[in-house]
Amino acid sequence: MSSAIRLQHVSRHYGPPESRVHALDDVSLEIADKEFVAIMGPSGCGKSTLMHLLGGLDTPSAGEIFIGDLPLHSADERALTQYRRRDLGIVFQFFNLLPTMNVLENVSLPLLLAGEPPSRTRPKAMALLDLVGMTPRAGHFVHQLSGGEMQRTAIARALIHRPRLLLADEPTGNLDSVGAGRVLDVLRQVATQALTTLVIVTHSEEVAGMASRRIRLRDGRLERA
Ligand SMILES: Nc1ncnc2c1ncn2[C@@H]1O[C@H](COP(=O)(O)OP(=O)(O)OP(=O)(O)O)[C@@H](O)[C@H]1O
Ligand SMILES: [Mg+2]
Repeated sequence: MSSAIRLQHVSRHYGPPESRVHALDDVSLEIADKEFVAIMGPSGCGKSTLMHLLGGLDTPSAGEIFIGDLPLHSADERALTQYRRRDLGIVFQFFNLLPTMNVLENVSLPLLLAGEPPSRTRPKAMALLDLVGMTPRAGHFVHQLSGGEMQRTAIARALIHRPRLLLADEPTGNLDSVGAGRVLDVLRQVATQALTTLVIVTHSEEVAGMASRRIRLRDGRLERA
């Protein structure tokens, strides 16, 4: 299955007609397989709304969203669950790692939940920890990590099941410049090795500079750069 993304006249409205918020307003857009796209724009312009729609965590008020030939706008809960588990990796601004697990276990978790035995998940997790430069921290618990290390762990976890699409919503938003720099290096690796399609929301010109394309939103509408 291709993971090319196609949005056709997608809108997401909130609230009753008299006080309606147009979080996304008639957005049409295509993202190719293995493309690296940066989503930019001022606070409140609809970036996270777009990410939630792409992640199948929310459904559009109008319009169509296809991931390959999967129609997200009309998929049932079962198809959405399978899409999220199998095809999607998500990295949020606030790292949502489990505090009672160490780095290796956190990264392995998606595969363990899918029923793979630790003997099989371990080498895969170690390979990804190597990719994100976290091998020396494999046994650390979350409270023993810096913010940048947490985020790199979260990226490794988002990649472990080899998703077709990686969504990252301000992955460097909470980090100082050193931490952000290391996360950037990791994302650059992911893009260079063409591991997955990469859609990143960012306020950072540096992150956006690595992308193959920038997409700007303003008041829920597309502004082509
Ligand atoms: N559940 C909701 N109910 C009503 N309005 C909402 C809801 N979620 C988002 N909005 C509104 O939709 C608009 C877009 O929100 P969104 O979170 O997509 O912005 P954003 O571009 O991600 O902003 P930021 O850069 O601050 O994260 C905002 O005006 C927001 O207030
Ligand atoms: Mg946001």
